[in-house]
Amino acid sequence: MPDPYTNPDAQAASTIQAMMTRLEERGRHIGFSRMIAKYVANLPKQKPLVVLDLGCGTGVVTRQLDKVLHPDSTLHGADVSSELLKEAARLAGDSRIKWDYLSAGVLPYPDQYFDAIIMHTLLSHVPDPVCILAEARRVLRPDGQLIVFDADHASTTYAQPDYETTRCVDFLLTSAIATHPDICRRLPTLLKQAGYELTAHDAEVISECGKGDYWLSSVQGFSRLIPTLGILTPAEADAWSRHMMESHEDGTFFAAGAFYTFYAKPS
Ligand SMILES: C[S@@+](CC[C@H](N)C(=O)[O-])C[C@H]1O[C@@H](n2cnc3c(N)ncnc32)[C@H](O)[C@@H]1O
Repeated sequence: MPDPYTNPDAQAASTIQAMMTRLEERGRHIGFSRMIAKYVANLPKQKPLVVLDLGCGTGVVTRQLDKVLHPDSTLHGADVSSELLKEAARLAGDSRIKWDYLSAGVLPYPDQYFDAIIMHTLLSHVPDPVCILAEARRVLRPDGQLIVFDADHASTTYAQPDYETTRCVDFLLTSAIATHPDICRRLPTLLKQAGYELTAHDAEVISECGKGDYWLSSVQGFSRLIPTLGILTPAEADAWSRHMMESHEDGTFFAAGAFYTFYAKPS
């Protein structure tokens, strides 16, 4: 079963709804939105910029950019899913954001058009990240800034009663939800291959011990998606999520995962 985020429009309506709910839910989480705010803070605010949020989904990052960019900035949110873009436009209401329906491998923008391009949890979901990075480089100004944020899915863990179950389910879930669960580990190489210089990076871990919050809502998100991912039987999925809920209730919850932000410029 392919990663549903690779082509959301090909999914059942209930799966698209589950994805939209999850994207908005995690976007509202204080720890997650703080990581977005941190890299957004690196963009200059005193002059107008032309900015692209590529793989914008329901527009969590695009709306955050809209709040802080110079009033004369031009802001594009672009995605391969017309369903997610429709929701993004609805949530943003009347705004300056231009919503573009496209596939990131062939961008309909002139060379050197953008001052900054953001890819927020896009590259872990695309079959060929180097092509997308290279196409983004074409439309990025020579002094422009690329910001790639992604989850190191390969490090995400939801503790179960025994380590074997933990390892097994972690692997199944992260492999089903991301085409490249290890994208962060490969990004220094991929950026170089696509013609960028990596100028800085940042990493954060969201870890929850005793009680769950971010990862508990991720479990709830998975519970809505698991039936369509086809990786666990209903009984296995139920046992997995029940353990996470019960460990939250009795104060023995453990889940953690790392997130990376890469800052790069054309080399
Ligand atoms: C995990 S979601 C992230 C959405 C948003 N950036 C966020 O963090 O809330 C991945 C997004 O990438 C989009 N996507 C996947 N492949 C794409 C492609 N080839 N071109 C453009 N967008 C793509 C999906 O439709 C989805 O909206």
